[in-house]
Amino acid sequence: MGVLQNTQIVLASRPVADIDPKAAFRTQKVSLSDELGPGEFLVKVLYVSLDPAMRGWMRDVRSYIRPVQIDEVMRSSDVAQVIKSNNKDYRVGELVRASCGWQEYQVLKPSEDVVKIKIFPGISPSSYLGVLGLTGLTAYFGMFEVGEIAAKGGPNCTVVVSGAAGATGSVAAQIAKHVFGCRVIGIAGSDDKCEYLVKELGLDVGLNYKSKTFFKDLCAATPKLIDIFFDNTGGDILDCCLRRIAFKGRIVVCGAISTYNDVVPKGPAYYSALITQRARMEGFIVFDYAKKYGKALEDMSNWIKEGKLKTRETVIHGLENAPEALVKLFKGENTGKMLVKVAEETTASRL
Ligand SMILES: NC(=O)c1ccc[n+]([C@@H]2O[C@H](COP(=O)([O-])OP(=O)(O)OC[C@H]3O[C@@H](n4cnc5c(N)ncnc54)[C@H](OP(=O)(O)O)[C@@H]3O)[C@@H](O)[C@H]2O)c1
Repeated sequence: MGVLQNTQIVLASRPVADIDPKAAFRTQKVSLSDELGPGEFLVKVLYVSLDPAMRGWMRDVRSYIRPVQIDEVMRSSDVAQVIKSNNKDYRVGELVRASCGWQEYQVLKPSEDVVKIKIFPGISPSSYLGVLGLTGLTAYFGMFEVGEIAAKGGPNCTVVVSGAAGATGSVAAQIAKHVFGCRVIGIAGSDDKCEYLVKELGLDVGLNYKSKTFFKDLCAATPKLIDIFFDNTGGDILDCCLRRIAFKGRIVVCGAISTYNDVVPKGPAYYSALITQRARMEGFIVFDYAKKYGKALEDMSNWIKEGKLKTRETVIHGLENAPEALVKLFKGENTGKMLVKVAEETTASRL
């Protein structure tokens, strides 16, 4: 029997407003026995997903998932590699996506939260936290199930996506543009990101929401108003888009990152546009569509192969940098999926 030294990052205190990473988290080393019970397998974490939703998990409030407790390992979705196994279905060297949290190692058992990863050429393991993970699935189901893009999409349909240079937004915007041929306007927080949206992702327009002329620019870019608004940010951007919503328009409430650090979030001022335009605004959680993940992932894999979906990652190295990386999401320091690389994958020759 062996004992591993396992580095973990736990929630130390609940932030009230912006996250102070030094106060909110604590690093600890614990011993982990590698003795495995029946069906168990030991994994080492390779990549940790950083998600704005983590800010919500740090609050002690009613939500779609229970809050992370004080002194508990910070929850995250991860890609991990099996390094010892007592289970013939999870062999040493294989990769899984699982919720191990901010730590180096974990002993797992098969469950619906542990998903084996199939690697195919051109797809990196980290993609299973991004475009082929919950992020990509969020974009897919938000667009299909809430935005109803299959019914509304086409060249006469104007789609606006906020947080468009981020992980979820970039996939949502490309589905609207390259799968359904809509006119797509992406909103992001810098001119460089706007250039990326147009030149690299092929959107029609990129708008910087920090510009003084943002609302005027949005009006100019949406002469036929907005049929589908896929919202990742909430706040003032949501208000601007409410003012431009088309008759029977749809607002997909995917996220509201601009409000997550607010002590008391303020609501949209222009929501009465939903009445006058008979529009609909609807929230969702990606887990609602778990039974349909298979078909969605097949579609997304095909769109990647066909060049319809391009992705970027912002990779921070070292588990110890996970708290700072989380804060960077709220400063817009990522383009595409924000990840922490914790360890190298052990290649077949070294197993
Ligand atoms: N409903 C669901 O099931 C579900 C699942 C996953 C994610 N989400 C939501 O989807 C949204 C995007 O998540 P993600 O993982 O893809 O993150 P992301 O978009 O890759 O990263 C967050 C981005 O938000 C932008 N941002 C930060 N503060 C902002 C502010 N005050 N105002 C406007 N934009 C701001 C930044 O880009 P800029 O530089 O452009 O500001 C940053 O890069 C989040 O709101 C998240 O909670 C929902």
